[in-house]
Amino acid sequence: MTTQATTPPGSPVASPALPTARGPLSESGLAVLAGSGTRLPATDEVRRSDPYGDDLQLLLYVLYELHYRGFAGVDERLEWDPALLGVRAAAEDVFLDALRRDAGPGGQDVAGAVDALQLEPVGDDGHGVSHHLRREGELWQLREYAAVRSLYHLKEADPHLWVVPRLRGRAKAAMVAVEFDEFGAGRAENVHAQLFADLMTDLGLDARYGHYVDAAPAQALATVNLMSLFGLHRRLRGALVGHFATVEITSSPGSRRLAEALRRVGAGPAAQRFYDEHVEADAVHEQVVRHEVIAGLLEDEPALAADVVLGIESTGHLEHLLGDHLLAAWRAGRSALRTPLPS
Ligand SMILES: [Fe+2]
Ligand SMILES: [Fe+2]
Repeated sequence: MTTQATTPPGSPVASPALPTARGPLSESGLAVLAGSGTRLPATDEVRRSDPYGDDLQLLLYVLYELHYRGFAGVDERLEWDPALLGVRAAAEDVFLDALRRDAGPGGQDVAGAVDALQLEPVGDDGHGVSHHLRREGELWQLREYAAVRSLYHLKEADPHLWVVPRLRGRAKAAMVAVEFDEFGAGRAENVHAQLFADLMTDLGLDARYGHYVDAAPAQALATVNLMSLFGLHRRLRGALVGHFATVEITSSPGSRRLAEALRRVGAGPAAQRFYDEHVEADAVHEQVVRHEVIAGLLEDEPALAADVVLGIESTGHLEHLLGDHLLAAWRAGRSALRTPLPS
């Protein structure tokens, strides 16, 4: 092990601490990362695990994080450690097989899958989390929602950037145009991840990167792992574009509901700004993604249509699992987190 330069724990670039294990796979993976263990999970142990369960999802999450901000005290060279990459590949196979089996009917009809994303329920009938929060969400539920979403929003748009070198022409130009907005269009204070950190501070949450990993249920880890899985593999570039399209197309109406919910509970201006910003920006992004990113990609590589559909369906599938988990807990009057937030 090399000695690493250490960054003070409170600094904005500090890496988070390693999370707590949730089962045998994550326990041995975390011990190897911490330098206190040498035995990695065997491939057949990984294959037998629940694809959506806490143990496998946490293992994947920590292995993917080596490509983002890493963890305090973990050797940065482990990002490309062949043995860890082997374990990650086995875990990815389990996850991806489950998604191909469960996410939806599949097929090649990208236009149909995109149209389905644009269908909004009429009137007050929506069943999803943002509908619930807009209608009757309480402040404690909005705080839990923000804590869960912080795993992605504090690195918003980063996983989608992996795809850029794998695109060309219209798809590449349009993808980068949207990402430019996500990264603040040249202004650090407007980076969407920063706007989300401001929202968290407004809600009295800890805005440090990775702070709520231990609190997050497996369903939340899975939504973040999905982007890393698609982003880090060139062979899944079509699925990454499908994921990106789903995020951008569903964001504008969902953000409108969340902005309304935050206003209703009296959250501060920074909390509202994150979602207000997405109502407008994503109405434009939606068009660019549909007509330039997806259309450009499929013009170049029509054989990727099934993968774009896989990306769209997998995103919807995991969002449903997370939504069901959150709503079941909240309707029963209990926390949806593994460890409730201090009030
Ligand atoms: Fe954004
Ligand atoms: Fe966007």
